Amino acid sequence: MSTVTTGVPAQDRTSAGAAPAVRVADAAVAYDSTTVLSGVSLEVPAGEILAVLGSNGSGKSTLVRAMLGLVPLSSGSVELHGTPLRRFREWGRIGYVPQRLSAGGGVPATVREVVASGQVVRRRRLHRATAAERAAVGEALEAVDLADRARDSVHELSGGQQQRVLIARALAARPDTFFLDEPMAGVDAASQRALARTVTRLSAQGATVVLVLHEPGPLEPLIGRSIVLSGGGIVHDGAPPRPEGDCARPGHEHVHPHADPDPASAALPDIEVPRRG
Ligand SMILES: Nc1ncnc2c1ncn2[C@@H]1O[C@H](COP(=O)(O)OP(=O)(O)OP(=O)(O)O)[C@@H](O)[C@H]1O
Ligand SMILES: [Mg+2]
Repeated sequence: MSTVTTGVPAQDRTSAGAAPAVRVADAAVAYDSTTVLSGVSLEVPAGEILAVLGSNGSGKSTLVRAMLGLVPLSSGSVELHGTPLRRFREWGRIGYVPQRLSAGGGVPATVREVVASGQVVRRRRLHRATAAERAAVGEALEAVDLADRARDSVHELSGGQQQRVLIARALAARPDTFFLDEPMAGVDAASQRALARTVTRLSAQGATVVLVLHEPGPLEPLIGRSIVLSGGGIVHDGAPPRPEGDCARPGHEHVHPHADPDPASAALPDIEVPRRG
């Protein structure tokens, strides 16, 4: 790996004094009067791949939504790239894949339209997509192996294919900070491996990736750090918890860093995070 393009501004690189991509300080979140998270503090350095683990209902999605200001904090604070959330404006740097397809609602939209919608945040005013933007949509569709479905309605796709559309939408905007909420859920093994390769490439380019995962699967070798949520707080923060003898388990499948290159990966285009600043 020689020259890689990175979208991470020089001041954010993991050197002394660099702002973390995400800083959560003593945060609490309540729905109605029920407290779901409390006393949560966490820093995600720029360039890190962080897995957020925990059982159903432990607050993983809530934590990601709180990091993005999509649910209010009842106390505490969140900063993105060194800026308090309420003053943060660089939403073009943020790619978010929610847990389930909510985009579009009942409005018919083609796969290509949904993927292109991820770029809207980057545009200052409405204008026709530039050639570069159209190319980015095409590359993102290739990366999730849906280029041949670009003109189909998203409502005709399976749940796993819709999930891949949302991943492509995040990629198309070429952010440098990703929040992926269970991107593997309902996605077949080949697409999981393709996503693992895409995350590897984004990471090599300096992107920050916060991944909510039910089980690490093919992404396991990429994850340097994981947190586990339970009882409203972080109960583990460090190396991913790894059951002994996991690799011997029947049905075990993930991409090892030392594995032979998958011939299919050669056909996947590089998704480049644009250089900023
Ligand atoms: N909009 C909401 N209104 C009320 N309660 C909510 C809402 N969203 C989540 N909750 C509750 O907050 C808790 C945490 O939910 P959350 O979706 O963050 O969990 P999770 O760890 O992402 O679960 P899963 O693994 O099922 O995705 C749950 O008890 C859930 O019922
Ligand atoms: Mg969730």
